[in-house]
This record gives sequence, structure tokens and C-alpha cells, in this order.
Amino acid sequence: MSLEKTVYIGTFIHCQSLTELDIVDNGAVGVDEQGKIAFVHRDRHATSLEQGWKSAKIVDSLKHGFFFPGFIDTHIHASQYPNAGVFGKSTLLDWLNTYTFPLESSFNALDKAARIYNRVVARTLSHGTTTACYYATVHVPATILLADICHSKGQRAFVGRVCMDRLSPEWYRDESVEAAMDATKKCIEHIENIDPDFHLITPIITPRFAPSCTDECLIAQGRLVQETGLPCQTHISENKAECQLVQEMFPESKSYTEVYDSTGLLTNRTILAHAVHLTPEERALIKLRQAKISHCPASNTALTSGTAKVRTLLNEGLTVGLGTDISGGYTSSLLAEAREAIFVSRHNAMTEGDGAKLSVEEALYLATRGGAKVVGLEDRIGGFEVGKDWDAQMVMLNPVGKDEDLDQSVGLVDVFGGESWSEKVEKWVYTGDDRNTMAVWVKGRLVHDRERVRS
Ligand code: GUN
Ligand code: FE
Repeated sequence: MSLEKTVYIGTFIHCQSLTELDIVDNGAVGVDEQGKIAFVHRDRHATSLEQGWKSAKIVDSLKHGFFFPGFIDTHIHASQYPNAGVFGKSTLLDWLNTYTFPLESSFNALDKAARIYNRVVARTLSHGTTTACYYATVHVPATILLADICHSKGQRAFVGRVCMDRLSPEWYRDESVEAAMDATKKCIEHIENIDPDFHLITPIITPRFAPSCTDECLIAQGRLVQETGLPCQTHISENKAECQLVQEMFPESKSYTEVYDSTGLLTNRTILAHAVHLTPEERALIKLRQAKISHCPASNTALTSGTAKVRTLLNEGLTVGLGTDISGGYTSSLLAEAREAIFVSRHNAMTEGDGAKLSVEEALYLATRGGAKVVGLEDRIGGFEVGKDWDAQMVMLNPVGKDEDLDQSVGLVDVFGGESWSEKVEKWVYTGDDRNTMAVWVKGRLVHDRERVRS
């Protein structure tokens, strides 16, 4: 799809490193017809030096507004969206039986799947999520539909059909390893047809988690991962009872991580959600294989799974991004998830010392550059550099006179205008929500426009 050449002008903020933001106050970014960043100027007036951009469209971040890279949700169950906020006092294994399997099994009804998948994609876009790693369900037609919806709404997505041939009730599982693999291959083929080069949508092999799969099922999926080179997503070491169960179910394996490694599922394209209770040996193996970690703090708190030691993971050189883990997590907002990551790290700090604390900058790094590395797209997304895709959101604090429902709960700017940009970013992280997300682009295409949604 060819787009209108556009020059974005105003304030640009992205993560320069894990701990530092790069803030450009009066800059310009040119985005070409393919949605790629053609130039970046720290002084907007330098745009006049660019040949062939005189008649380009202009989009201004306006006063109190700034452009920020789109968020990357590295772990979200699209099918669990209707259960967001419902978990009672359950913990992982009873939560799965009480809430999750009954809901997911209902996705054999395609009209229900259509309703929910349209909602979850629109909602995550409205929160500035430009890339999402989705778990769907075991159902092929509904999984294909999720891929189609992401494609037509323009969200960059990894779409996984869930594989599982045990643990869940008989009425919601794969009947055999052959049936599981055939169904997964059908979903992969569909995505190859709608997006042959995986520009926007990528299939992802999705063994639910080790206890849901027989050895044969894990091995078959591992073989598919090795043959196709496709990415893989699963859960690891989320909850102590689950870790115990894995030990009992796989007595020949030295660890939970080794279950995945010995079946070919631990590659540099594998995304492991949670990683709360990993041992040092497991972390070393994950690092050796260059597998990636999705930190899901809201979920870990809601299901009382534990507090992942993100500082340790980062210090040891592991690659970490953030995941909302709907509906273990209650929020579809990665901004809220960044806040949760900060607070979980502060709870860790209360027992481990201040070094455990994540800063606002670090949480935003995990939500953008970290996530980009987790999904293997750090050359394409996560920041504003020439050659990257324009996956971005326009954030506005206190758009005076425009939005009567904005108050101090969503980022009030000091009326005297005395705040620095970094203080405004801090306010956004702690008090902002989707009302601050005025517009969202993926590969240069406008995929969410708050003014249009409201009118
Ligand atoms: N482990 C296995 N399945 C799930 C799931 O759906 N959500 C979470 N958070 N953990 C899981
Ligand atoms: Fe999950």
C-alpha cells in the first residue's frame, strides 16, 4: 500500500539506551510512501534541505504533545479479553480451569471470535500498541480470523494457534499430535497467503506450556520450529505449583527450561512469558540459546505468581520486553503494564535493595526497544531512526479545550509550563491512559485516531 509522504514535526522522544531518553524538542521526521523513516532532523528547519519533500503532508505534535515509538506487547491472549479483570483469588492452575479453558473453548463459534478479536485489536491500538504477540485458541478458523483482523486493521502481530494435547478438559484440546500439527500448519499457510513476506503478520508456533503438551507434541512442535525457523512462544516458570508439576511430569529433565531445550523449542526466536522462578542455571541456558523473556508484572501480581527479578535478568544480559498477558493481567494497556513493572520492581527493592528498582526510562525501554528485540525486529521498530518503520504514537498531555474528560488523572500539564519534557513523560507513565494517545501509526499507516473515534 502506498501512503502519502509525511513530515512529522514537533517533539520526538524515544529511548536512547536502557536508562536514557533522547528528547528532541523541535525536530522533524520524514516518512516515505512505504511507511519508512527517510530522514530525522533534530532541527525541523533542516527539512528544507531535503529534495522532494516540499509538498509532503505535515503532522504536528502541537504544544504538550510528543511522538513516541509504538508499544510492543510481547505476550497477550487475544481470546481471553472478555475475562480481563476477572480472576477472584485464583492462582494459575485453578485459574486456567475456572476461567480460561471455558472461555477459550467458546471460540469454536466464529461470530463470537469475530466480535472479541475486533474489539481486542481496536482496543490495544487505542493504547498505542503497534505490535502484539497474540495467543489465539486451538481453533483454526478463529485463529485465521485473528490474523485477518490484525492485517486489515493494520496492527503488526505475531499470531499463534495454541497447541495442547493434555491437561485441559477433553472438550478443549488437540485430539492427537497429528491433528495439532495439521491445524498449526493450516494457520501458518493462511498467514503466508495473506502476507507472504510477513511484513505485518507473522505466524508463531505456540505450545501453550509444557504441562499442556505430551513429549510427542513438544517434539513435533520443536521439529516445526527447527524446520521453518519461525518464532515460538510459550510460558515458563510462572508459578511454584506449575514448576512442581513440570518436575513431576518431566522427571528426566533437569529443569523447566531444559524441557523446552531438549525438544528443540528454545531458540533465539523463542519468547518465554513470565520467567518468575528461574534458577541461575536456567537463566544461563536461556542466555546461551538467546531466547527472549516477556515480563508480565500485572499478571504476576493478579495471580500471585511471584515477582520476576527483572534487574537480575537484565544484569545477566537477557533480553526482556513487557507483556500484558490478558487475562492473567487485567489491563490491555502497555503503558499501565510499564507502571506495573516499576511497582513490582519497587516491591523487589523492599527485600533486595534499591538496585532492583526500575526507572521510568527503563520501563519505557522494555515497552519499546526491549520488546523490539524480543520479537526480533530491533532493526525495524522500537525507535526513530532512518530506515525503521514509522510505528509511532502521538501522546498529548492536557490538550486544553479539546478534551473535556481530561483532568489531572491523565497527565495535567503544569499551568505555568514549568515542567521539563522528562517530567512530562514521568507524569504520562504514572497518570496517563488511552485518552492521551491521540493517534497511532503502523508502517506509516494511521491505525487509530482518537478524534475520529470520539466524533
Ligand atoms: N500458562 C498456561 N496457560 C496460560 C495462560 O493462558 N495464561 C497464563 N498467564 N499462564 C498460562
Ligand atoms: Fe499468558
